Amino acid sequence: MFGRPQTSASIRRIGPDFAAACAKIHAQSFAHPWAPAEFESLLAGRDVIGEAAFATSLFGGRRLTGFVLSRRGADTAEMLTVAVAPALRRNGVATALIARHLATLAAESVKSLFLEVETDNRAARALYRRFGFEEVGERKAYYRKADGIAASALVLRRDFD
Ligand SMILES: CC(C)(COP(=O)(O)OP(=O)(O)OC[C@H]1O[C@@H](n2cnc3c(N)ncnc32)[C@H](O)[C@@H]1OP(=O)(O)O)[C@@H](O)C(=O)NCCC(=O)NCCS
Repeated sequence: MFGRPQTSASIRRIGPDFAAACAKIHAQSFAHPWAPAEFESLLAGRDVIGEAAFATSLFGGRRLTGFVLSRRGADTAEMLTVAVAPALRRNGVATALIARHLATLAAESVKSLFLEVETDNRAARALYRRFGFEEVGERKAYYRKADGIAASALVLRRDFD
């Protein structure tokens, strides 16, 4: 019912109104979900930039299919989270979202973007590699997985020209 490929035209900035939709996808994506209230507070923050992809159904309904949130400082930003609805993965949604997000951050004079990714998150690491992120550090036993086992994280960085 919802179209597969995402175009950049279906991506836009989001505010706290979309907290529940983001929290739902986040809960389907991570072992430690963030509550809707956390998203609401983040998305209401002046320093947080949230963007989301939307799919339109044949009947004209729209639903949020993926999102990315970054927090910006002076001339750096940190990508806080990115996730795509499980049923719609591997369709280029994250690629379109991140491409747009990088353009948004560059337009806001961000010079470097940082993020943390679990070492064994192959999907995300492949995605970030494509966008030119480079490893700049490692945090041992940084995450705790659903089964309680500790997992390490890599710190990645991408500079804007
Ligand atoms: C990581 C995630 C956001 C990717 O979203 P997506 O919309 O499926 O990504 P795309 O379709 O744009 O994929 C882009 C590229 O990423 C890589 N990739 C995506 N999913 C992959 C997978 N399951 N295995 C290996 N590589 C994968 C591939 O290189 C892919 O390109 P290709 O399809 O041409 O091979 C999604 O899997 C997700 O929401 N995961 C759970 C949350 C998460 O881990 N977020 C990142 C935290 S740091």
